[in-house]
Amino acid sequence: MIITGATIITGVFGYPVRHSLSPVFQNAAFQYRHLNWVYVPFEISPEYLKDAVRAIKIFSVKGINVTIPHKKEVIKYLDVLDEEVKLLGVANTIVNEDGCLKGYSTDGEGFLRSLKEDGGFTPENKLVFLFGSGGSSFAIAGALVRAGISGLIICNRTIEKAAVLKNHLKDCFSFQNIEVIPFEKRNNAGIWKNIDLVVNTTSVGMKDDDVVLVDEKNLNDNMFIYDIVYNRETPLILSAKKKGVRCLDGLSMLVFQGAVSFTLWTKIEAPIEVMKKSLIAYKKTMQKGNQN
Ligand code: ATR
Repeated sequence: MIITGATIITGVFGYPVRHSLSPVFQNAAFQYRHLNWVYVPFEISPEYLKDAVRAIKIFSVKGINVTIPHKKEVIKYLDVLDEEVKLLGVANTIVNEDGCLKGYSTDGEGFLRSLKEDGGFTPENKLVFLFGSGGSSFAIAGALVRAGISGLIICNRTIEKAAVLKNHLKDCFSFQNIEVIPFEKRNNAGIWKNIDLVVNTTSVGMKDDDVVLVDEKNLNDNMFIYDIVYNRETPLILSAKKKGVRCLDGLSMLVFQGAVSFTLWTKIEAPIEVMKKSLIAYKKTMQKGNQN
């Protein structure tokens, strides 16, 4: 990659941002498409967020991804919000259109594309069991409802938040077939009979001592398991693989939500396979580095 006077800048605002994998696959995509663009990490502490957003205009930065902890706060400083952002109250992508900053959320579309294109799973008329009621669950549940699922069971450690998500889906999409179940009752066998899709949007499974989310006995091979955790193979994914249940982890969604951002900025189709391969190669390099 050669940086020239004409290089177009994009990047990610986060705090911390060192862990972000987006620079790896976004730069791989720019290179593959022969674009004189670059994607860089910006560690922005919360007190500087407003100034940082102003700097997007000052420095003519073309596009920014926004990650933890700025997704909610950032929308105050944007000029135009996409309908999805208005619904969700969070943005993860900014496009600078000649000085006008537009906010988008690409998580929902990224999730759906990943489910369909990588998972080969069509959500229409399917019954979904969703773990979690945080920021990601709002985007994912909204996308699933719009895609025409037949019913949704929401299960979250804090049941009040699950009720908030349920009401949000009812209000925004007039979707009625939603049940909330307490976290302690998540493995009651009766619930699991007709489930088509299980989605974990919580961080459960990231750590060794996390609780078991789904008992293996409740999984069957008519189901599809989607776990948005991407830093490791969670016990949920391991159980699915052991039982021959179709499954997908969070790396796929990470790439697809990034691909949607890529296209919003460049108006060019993102090279999904190239982006995935760059991540796999990067992870291998990191593993080797750790061994040495
Ligand atoms: P994100 O924006 O990635 O969704 P978040 O808004 O912090 O992140 O949401 C995290 C989700 O993981 C929540 O649903 C949270 O449950 P609570 O609403 O009860 O906090 C869930 N979560 C995190 N740690 C958990 C744990 N140890 N057991 C069960 N659920 C957990």
